[in-house]
Amino acid sequence: MKAIVCRSYGPTSQLRLEDIEKPIPKPNEVLVKVRFSAVNDYDWGMVRGKPNLYRLLFGLLKPKHPIPGMELSGVVEACGVGVKNFSGGDEVYGDISRYGFGSFAEYVCINEKALVKKPKNIPFEDAAALSHAANLAWQGLVDVGGIKKGMKILINGAGGGVGTIGLQIAKTYACEVTGVDTGEKLATMKTLGFDHIIDYKKEDFTKSDTQYDLILDAKTTRAPRAYVKVLSKGGKYVTVGGTIGRLLQLLPAGKLLKRPVYIVALDANKDLFAIEKLYMEEKIKPEIDGPYPLEKTPWAIQHFGEGKHTGKVIVSVQ
Ligand SMILES: NC(=O)c1ccc[n+]([C@@H]2O[C@H](COP(=O)([O-])OP(=O)(O)OC[C@H]3O[C@@H](n4cnc5c(N)ncnc54)[C@H](OP(=O)(O)O)[C@@H]3O)[C@@H](O)[C@H]2O)c1
Repeated sequence: MKAIVCRSYGPTSQLRLEDIEKPIPKPNEVLVKVRFSAVNDYDWGMVRGKPNLYRLLFGLLKPKHPIPGMELSGVVEACGVGVKNFSGGDEVYGDISRYGFGSFAEYVCINEKALVKKPKNIPFEDAAALSHAANLAWQGLVDVGGIKKGMKILINGAGGGVGTIGLQIAKTYACEVTGVDTGEKLATMKTLGFDHIIDYKKEDFTKSDTQYDLILDAKTTRAPRAYVKVLSKGGKYVTVGGTIGRLLQLLPAGKLLKRPVYIVALDANKDLFAIEKLYMEEKIKPEIDGPYPLEKTPWAIQHFGEGKHTGKVIVSVQ
């Protein structure tokens, strides 16, 4: 089978499209014929081995999973011993990162718990774009953020996967949503329906007088004190990601600043049922950058890492 292989940490240009052996499912694993995959922050970190702390997770000297990719849609081709929930021909999708990587390939073997059945009326391309970012956005806004009707919400890093779906989830609660990002993404963000857009290269939202009931952050680019200043009384700050240094600052900040500051620990695929329902009601639709063919994956990961993408970067495997 064809796969994008990463044999050592380094620039995306060292990734190679190789012909390798098709995997055989172990007990509790399913063999999936991948249709679409998506690029995520884990791929950008895993290929380069940066930040260095990531190597504790991905392998100290070289990636322990030689094929990157952690999100997919596809069709089950075979099942290992003990698989209970799937059989050959099932259409599936999911964020597989809790059980492994390897979705930038024609086939992947993964524990059945990493996948859910794909409803027939969600196309493969959209399904591959939904599992990771939409779950992060849902868990940030709904589970942790406690979103309520009519709230004033700000999403920082709003032009990526989490922000573009987060906006649509927030709109189902009739919230007023401000998006912060930069570059070409701002035009798409306007089309998608952000009520206000701030270019972070021109304006620092933490220095304005506007206050928000809920801030959802996909980047955590500022010190906690700055965010707290623009929270309304009773407002919450919720981050889903950022540099390790910034996230560590946040841990004691809530107590010191006496304000609700939360970091979302993703529970992969947990909320896909709610997300599917919104999709089927035509309330959300992932914003797709691509799809790009499998052989362009190194370029697609670089494109993502440089922040040149809007929404989800999708790779077509077939
Ligand atoms: N909590 C968890 O358990 C968990 C698990 C996995 C991943 N994550 C994290 O969750 C996040 C996923 O977000 P995503 O998929 O939406 O990422 P994304 O697609 O990369 O979007 C982030 C956006 O933020 C923008 N940005 C960069 N610097 C900024 C700044 N200073 N101010 C405002 N915006 C800025 C980027 O654009 P430019 O680069 O062009 O500026 C990009 O458009 C990542 O941080 C990831 O590491 C969390």
